[in-house]
Amino acid sequence: MKKKIFYTFVLLSLFSLGAIAQTTLYLHTDQAETKINREIYGHFAEHLGRCIYGGIYVGEDSDIPNIRGFREDLVYALKDMEIPLLRWPGGCFGDTYHWKDGIGPKHERPSMVNVHWGGVTEDNSFGTHEFLDFCELIEAEPYINLNVGSGTVREAAEWVEYVTSKNISPMTDLRKKNGREEPWDVKYWGIGNENWGCGGNMTPEYYADLYIRFASYCHGDLYRIAGGPNVDDYNWMEVLMKKTTRHNRHRRLVQGVSLHNYTFTNSWGDKGSATDFDEKGWISVLNNTLKMETLLERHSTIMDKYDPNKEIGLIVDEWGNWFNVEPGTTPGFLYQQNTLRDALVAGINLNLFNNHADRVKMSNIAQTVNVLQSVILTKDEEIVLTPTYYVFKMYAVHQDATLIPINLKSGQYKYDGKSVPSVYGSASTKDGVVSITLCNLNPNKAETIDINITGQEFASSTGQIITATNMNDYNDFGQEEKVTLKSFSVKKPKNGKVSVELPAKSVVLVQLQ
Ligand code: AHR
Repeated sequence: MKKKIFYTFVLLSLFSLGAIAQTTLYLHTDQAETKINREIYGHFAEHLGRCIYGGIYVGEDSDIPNIRGFREDLVYALKDMEIPLLRWPGGCFGDTYHWKDGIGPKHERPSMVNVHWGGVTEDNSFGTHEFLDFCELIEAEPYINLNVGSGTVREAAEWVEYVTSKNISPMTDLRKKNGREEPWDVKYWGIGNENWGCGGNMTPEYYADLYIRFASYCHGDLYRIAGGPNVDDYNWMEVLMKKTTRHNRHRRLVQGVSLHNYTFTNSWGDKGSATDFDEKGWISVLNNTLKMETLLERHSTIMDKYDPNKEIGLIVDEWGNWFNVEPGTTPGFLYQQNTLRDALVAGINLNLFNNHADRVKMSNIAQTVNVLQSVILTKDEEIVLTPTYYVFKMYAVHQDATLIPINLKSGQYKYDGKSVPSVYGSASTKDGVVSITLCNLNPNKAETIDINITGQEFASSTGQIITATNMNDYNDFGQEEKVTLKSFSVKKPKNGKVSVELPAKSVVLVQLQ
């Protein structure tokens, strides 16, 4: 008996000293009120490398099975992943794009040189009608980015009119002549992209003035998204919010402000390989991606000053891993493979966006297919669903669910002088089902997590998992999938408590109902 008391004492002391870290998760279901917009699970497709041409669009005459020119396998995969929203046409490409070159009979459309991405000549066969047709096919909401950098206010206003207007006007006549009688329902419009850089190298003061001018002429019940800061450029956010708020009092011109943040292994100049890395590269990427939390918090604090009721959304419309291109591929095409490490990065960021859903109203991972952290890779008629794809499929349960605030206490996983939480997660509730998504960042050790939900009883529990044998496993053409979604057994909770063992380097979904 004395021995037992002694051991219990030692164990408790170790816990309190942190020598044995106990991972606990408290779910505050009584405080669940914020909606997780399904747009948080959005995607981004730019005219870049093989994203549009060869990825999404192969043309009707292609030998690759297609629906009106769109790859059939990709259409079904995106629908199955429950893609809610797609941003187009850029990116940097957006501020070089003149939409009227991409409408009308295809053989009459002029070609253009994609100056940002490989200098390739494009034939404009994928334009406004094709993009909106594709969105209808995959049942995703469209988000169009207007050209501010090299475009005019008139060009932008006419694009909005062409797409959304019911009036009788030259633009709607043109739309009808091109085969579309009814307007499309396009709510989301970005006004410029990275205007501090490729979108015109502007100062925040100059861009804010220009934004107000462009936004004033984009009529309709639109969700206008201002080109926001690069990573931690808090001054850009401050100036933009300050200058535009005055106008919001009379007519709301800003509904959202974008934020771009990519994850590199080390830095922009040292992006690292997507597949060839060791534990140093593993922790470095996870540590870098977690910096998103500081960005969300600090940018939100600035927005709160001008928009205390959080009516303006923070729109993270470019995020994800940016590694060196795969050896032997065109440098300007940004083609990279996707490993289990990418699954962890996707899982962590989506949990972060969920947990900040009071301000984050949309996010768009870059990019849908064959570019950066893609959900799909294609090679001729072959298709690969990446580990990131399976995370989006797993996390679809959070779309339009209500966020459950959590209190997650875990130890730290440390390596190479870096330290990250061992476990990171988020939770939501929808239709009586509680969904908890958890990432175990430690590549060497399983973590047991004690989940506590007070005041609720559950009749059943289920789970799903994404993991792999090695941290740099990936799915490749012509091979059996190494990283995929599998079912995962979870014990039934008793008195609102359940313990779950998260295997090393895994993304796990626990569902209780
Ligand atoms: O996603 C690739 C590029 O990254 C985009 O075109 C640009 O907006 C960003 O710099």
